Amino acid sequence: MSSTNLQKWTASDLAPDGAGAAPRHVAIIMDGNGRWAAARGLPRVEGHRRGVEALRRAVRAAHELGVRHLTLYSFSAENWSRPVEEVSDLMNLLRLFMRRDLAELHKGEVRVKVIGERAGLPSDILGLLEEAEARTRGNSGLQLVVAFNYGGRQEIVSAVRRIAEAVRDGKLAPEAIDVGVVADHLDTANIPDPDLVIRTSGELRISNFLLWQSAYAEFVFLPLHWPDFDKAAFEEALASFSARQRRYGGRTARAGA
Ligand code: IPE
Ligand code: IPE
Ligand code: MG
Repeated sequence: MSSTNLQKWTASDLAPDGAGAAPRHVAIIMDGNGRWAAARGLPRVEGHRRGVEALRRAVRAAHELGVRHLTLYSFSAENWSRPVEEVSDLMNLLRLFMRRDLAELHKGEVRVKVIGERAGLPSDILGLLEEAEARTRGNSGLQLVVAFNYGGRQEIVSAVRRIAEAVRDGKLAPEAIDVGVVADHLDTANIPDPDLVIRTSGELRISNFLLWQSAYAEFVFLPLHWPDFDKAAFEEALASFSARQRRYGGRTARAGA
């Protein structure tokens, strides 16, 4: 991990609001598994395997750093366009993760929530995802939001469709549609918007992730590949976040008269 001049984030910076506050919700675009493997002459699947280990580290670090909601972009709606062998490797790794890690997550009071399109997923995967949600529903620790077969545009389209159906059925007046109504029809209903979105691999794009929800998120792009992500990288991102002033279009007291 390269060092930066940014102040190190510590637990004492915890505050509910304002500059210096720790992010309540961190969302991560876990990118760079393939390049990590290629740089070592390894098959891509090895990068994905090591990516699962980084994912475990991220969940642990989120818990230790006081993050309340952690969203992980695991498979995008567009990732189906990859070669079938790679898609199948990724599906198998999700199966393995859900089977091996669910008990441990449950023990750690983690509450799992899955966002993304469920229709068309292999039925055993669907079963594992639903089991993870059902088993951990009552937990009070970190909320782990797994974005699987997720696309921000697709999510908005399906919300619009359900809102249109409610209007058609006379359950909702068009004038009553506001930001809150739209938010309530997204997969992320009841989850606070991400305060911080992290992307690894050095790519500077959002790739159809949380388009609506990240309207006022802070972004941190880390110059490392996902398999190298660790607690120090997480802390570096949090330090960058805590040094920023969020204005939401308004002005802060510090901005001067
Ligand atoms: C992220 O790593 C994992 C998924 C998108 C599922 P990539 O597989 O995208 O790795 P790069 O970006 O090709 O290096
Ligand atoms: C975004 O990474 C999706 C996930 C991390 C699951 P991609 O590697 O698919 O994104 P692009 O293709 O570089 O935009
Ligand atoms: Mg990628």
